[in-house]
Amino acid sequence: QHDRAIRPALLQDYIGQPAVREKMDIFIGAAKKREEPLDHTLIFGPPGLGKTTLANIIANEMGVNIKTTSGPVLEKAGDLAAMLTNLEQGDVLFIDEIHRLSPNIEEILYPAMEDYQLDIMIGEGPAARSIKLDLPPFTLVGATTRAGQLTSPLRDRFGIVERLEFYSVQDLTTIVLRSAGKLEIEVEKEGAHEIAMRSRGTPRIANRLLRRVRDFAEVKSDGRITQAVADGALNMLHVDKAGFDHLDRRVLLALIEKFSGGPAGIENIAAALSEVRDTLEDVVEPYLIQQGYLIRTPRGRIATDLAYLHFDIDRPQA
Ligand code: ADE
Repeated sequence: QHDRAIRPALLQDYIGQPAVREKMDIFIGAAKKREEPLDHTLIFGPPGLGKTTLANIIANEMGVNIKTTSGPVLEKAGDLAAMLTNLEQGDVLFIDEIHRLSPNIEEILYPAMEDYQLDIMIGEGPAARSIKLDLPPFTLVGATTRAGQLTSPLRDRFGIVERLEFYSVQDLTTIVLRSAGKLEIEVEKEGAHEIAMRSRGTPRIANRLLRRVRDFAEVKSDGRITQAVADGALNMLHVDKAGFDHLDRRVLLALIEKFSGGPAGIENIAAALSEVRDTLEDVVEPYLIQQGYLIRTPRGRIATDLAYLHFDIDRPQA
């Protein structure tokens, strides 16, 4: 994946997330001083905010290898055992989507995290036996979209738990300018700002839009990304002034037009859109809520006045 080329490798090159950066700088510095592996670290937050990037930065800063896998990929106990036994002293094992680990694999992780012990059954029937192996001290870095999806025994075994927040427009502008520099794309400050404002607070989206706007600039203009070029390209891509994409608008419009603005249950909204509930909860809702277009109540989701205003629809009087 060519995103690798523009990902920051060190904490000092990581833009935004000041609270997380400050804490990780201290925890990493302390672990290095003690010559110990970093404590197991859980990173959570909406997709595209830099969880994988941060895991790689941790390994780089600690000067160790990183082995990467994900919850759904680890199907059998042996899959995790193979990863664990391949670790060297101090290495980072990164498990993305860690909330999707199956329960039997989670159980192998507990003694591995706590005592660096691998404890598994091999074989079947009368030949089955349990083997115990010492593992080198290592750091598990787990990533998940929502910390609440983790079982509490697993969550409790992380010494460091960090939440990534949506990025400010200012930080996203800096990220776009930095990426443009690395990709040798000519972009004016106002062009970068336009892309930043319409990236849903998310670096992954900002970097993707930067590439698409460049295509537009090269074909429709002289290759230079001005504010007007960015605006034209983003309109063509159906990324609106609030940065909403097609799915964001479908969710808000369904709530307004099919559920009278709510409250509506998430399952009902998902069914009305033929979408998966998890996609709405993990990908769509966090930004709409953070921006004040949607609220979550015990009785369901409600579209706010801002949502009605966005579509220029009058809110029906109760
Ligand atoms: N590219 C993607 N996310 C980034 C970040 N937080 N800092 C710098 N470059 C990035």
